[in-house]
Amino acid sequence: MSTPSVPLPGGTHPLGDLAVTRFGYGAMQLAGPGVMGPPADRDGALAVLREAADLGITHIDTAGAYGPRVTNRLIREALHPYPAPLHLVTKVGAVRDEQGGWPPARRPEDLRRAVRENLDDLGLDALDVVNLRLGDAEGTRPGSLAEPFEALAELRQQGLIRHLGVSNATAEQVAEAQTIAPVVCVQNMYNLAHRRDDDLIDDLAAQGIAYVPFFPLGGFSPLQSAALSAVAARRGAAPLPVALAWLLRRSPNILLIPGTSSVAHLRENAAGAGLRLSDEEFAELDEIGRRA
Ligand SMILES: NC(=O)c1ccc[n+]([C@@H]2O[C@H](COP(=O)([O-])OP(=O)(O)OC[C@H]3O[C@@H](n4cnc5c(N)ncnc54)[C@H](OP(=O)(O)O)[C@@H]3O)[C@@H](O)[C@H]2O)c1
Repeated sequence: MSTPSVPLPGGTHPLGDLAVTRFGYGAMQLAGPGVMGPPADRDGALAVLREAADLGITHIDTAGAYGPRVTNRLIREALHPYPAPLHLVTKVGAVRDEQGGWPPARRPEDLRRAVRENLDDLGLDALDVVNLRLGDAEGTRPGSLAEPFEALAELRQQGLIRHLGVSNATAEQVAEAQTIAPVVCVQNMYNLAHRRDDDLIDDLAAQGIAYVPFFPLGGFSPLQSAALSAVAARRGAAPLPVALAWLLRRSPNILLIPGTSSVAHLRENAAGAGLRLSDEEFAELDEIGRRA
């Protein structure tokens, strides 16, 4: 990890006793098509990870289910031994089937196996942050998380996990998790156009808990909006990074993990997220989600 020449936008935010850059990187796009198998351009994938570290990013989001077991091994190959400031956040609670689906795997024995595989593949003795992924590919689902979250809390007590989070979770599930063990982050779907978690974000901000939107750029169908393109054009920027600048300004507890398999896009996103939006621009972008 070299010393970055330009500071990343947004500064840092705590994940428990760890500090991470608010501008992070989501590694899901590094696996093959449909997040299955190896990347078409293996050297390119390794280059993106090394560029993330060189930019000064200290938060990389991953999961054993990406590939499966492909992305974690790429991270290890690119960056191990990890520089001290770098923190890897992983997820357990879903596996992959032969059709590329994401069936849940949340029995205690599934979670113990997943944590062991993440440790092996990443080359670590303890995982910095583990998110319990709830719900399914269609979104959140109500219901108690007690059994799986207690199993992870036990692994945390054993020293295999430093901090816990939840993903694809309802506000009720976040609150239930907090009765079992401290929750340092919530990773849910949220972006300019999908604003269902507005109240949850504000509530977590008041508690100093990080909110990490997945699909910050729209995911597999990147955001397209006339208003976004108009603001970007006026500022001479590409549209997608402007959506990141909006997120950084939306709330101080929002951490970014935009995904890309391209070094050029990674650089463009890091630069564009630093755009200082005027109050008028922020309001114009804010309208996109209110209309959706
Ligand atoms: N907890 C969960 O259930 C869950 C679910 C999904 C994702 N995640 C996490 O969230 C992270 C982010 O999600 P994501 O990667 O799926 O979606 P995303 O960050 O919203 O969007 C990624 C897409 O945007 C494109 N892109 C990125 N920068 C661009 C740019 N500057 N210009 C044009 N296109 C650009 C990428 O293509 P290129 O590769 O061509 O740049 C890719 O197709 C993932 O990596 C993963 O770690 C978590």
